[in-house]
Amino acid sequence: KEGNDLVVVANRLPVDFTTDDDGSISWRRSPGGLVTALEPVMQSAEGAWVGWGGAADVYADPFEADGMTLVPVTLNEDEIEQYYEGFANDTLWPLYHDVISQPAFHRQWWDAYRRVNRRFAEAAAAQAGTGGTVWVQDYQLQLVPAMLRELRPDLRIGFFDHIPFPPYEIFSQLPWRRQVVEGLLGADLIGFQRNGDAANFLRIVRRLTRHSTRGQQITFEDGEGRPVREIRATAFPISIDSHRFDELARQDSTRARAAEIRTELGDPEIVMLGVDRLDYTKGIRHRIKAYGELLDDGRLTVEEATLVQVASPSRENVDAYQELREQVETAVGRINGEFGELGHAAIHYLHHSYPPEEMAALYLAADVMLVTSLRDGMNLVAKEYIAARSDQQGALVLSEFTGAADELSGALLVNPHDIDELKSVIEQAARMEPKEQRRRMRRLRRKVMADDVAKWSSSFLRTLEEMPVSPVAPE
Ligand code: G6P
Repeated sequence: KEGNDLVVVANRLPVDFTTDDDGSISWRRSPGGLVTALEPVMQSAEGAWVGWGGAADVYADPFEADGMTLVPVTLNEDEIEQYYEGFANDTLWPLYHDVISQPAFHRQWWDAYRRVNRRFAEAAAAQAGTGGTVWVQDYQLQLVPAMLRELRPDLRIGFFDHIPFPPYEIFSQLPWRRQVVEGLLGADLIGFQRNGDAANFLRIVRRLTRHSTRGQQITFEDGEGRPVREIRATAFPISIDSHRFDELARQDSTRARAAEIRTELGDPEIVMLGVDRLDYTKGIRHRIKAYGELLDDGRLTVEEATLVQVASPSRENVDAYQELREQVETAVGRINGEFGELGHAAIHYLHHSYPPEEMAALYLAADVMLVTSLRDGMNLVAKEYIAARSDQQGALVLSEFTGAADELSGALLVNPHDIDELKSVIEQAARMEPKEQRRRMRRLRRKVMADDVAKWSSSFLRTLEEMPVSPVAPE
């Protein structure tokens, strides 16, 4: 049989390519959340994954890895700069995250975005079997659904937006707003993290297009106003492989490592933890400011409380990320200089990423988990922390502006812009009685252990399969 029944299209492949000194290409797995989510369905459906290997000018044929076919899409240096760093991460990313950083609008970047989206659509069209299903992922590829439908009207097409979808008032700044909406409307099913994101999208469809909506349904109309097909836009909040984290954190080696981490930190009474990509949406500066002020006020001391901040390197060629790094590192240096003592750093700042084993140990070692995003599609770190805490200890401080806040009652919700409130909530978490920690954590765990990522992907795909097949226009 020709072609795959299920094709996933994402900006990144679940592997990273590197060019060795002799010019040969090698790859290694890049364990993202999405691949753990999709691996089981991909293996059972003999699926294919279309994506970019993270390096410039790599031409490679499709190959088999971990029970699926990987289909590399090639980007050159200019495309990485204009499509990935430019339009995706310096236009759409800040625009979709409440304009925390000013989005840049450049026509050349838009041209590159269109060109690269077409390349992904063509690769998917070439890979999918007749009547197959293609699932397109995230803001980097919003034009792919419509481009793909034009090439292959026989396919079922799903799209999932992993990041927030902004309200009309913000989205409408985008000079190419109509093209982006029409791109997404190539899908049969459009999934979002929160109900609010789906509602924003539906309102944008009403304001910017001729298509009509009823509840979550959009009736796509052709140029003459004739209904052609039905589209559904709705929320599918993503999750993590909860059981894997739970098991990892129960292992003796992880528990031993967690105890060792606390010793290495000088055995403070309270370990507070932040884990983020170094991104301006994460509220890292707000968190550091609040902690610094708590030390300054004498409400916490460095002997009793320390903050571990893991900030993994991200998008380092984009100016806004370089500026953020400067700001965070200056703030950390200032606070450590002012409040640190020999043997007691105020903040342990780690600009690295760590394997899941070490992350699970860090979560177990942390009395307080700080998630203070200014805007966040979901925030999976919050869910990982909960899944790791089968001991039912620990307190989660969670920004209201995350998708996770819609789901995780039991967390201490906070507005991270309100530094005084953030300080009180951090203090409340740091002083929380074990009994209350247990009461809250039990509730949080019920949710996270029940709604894992396998449930997310299967419910999206089932909903997509149940959609009425769109009539294929006669030749
Ligand atoms: C977010 C996005 C993903 C992206 C990830 C890492 O979670 O939703 O699409 O892959 O960040 O960012 P990067 O730019 O390194 O792929």
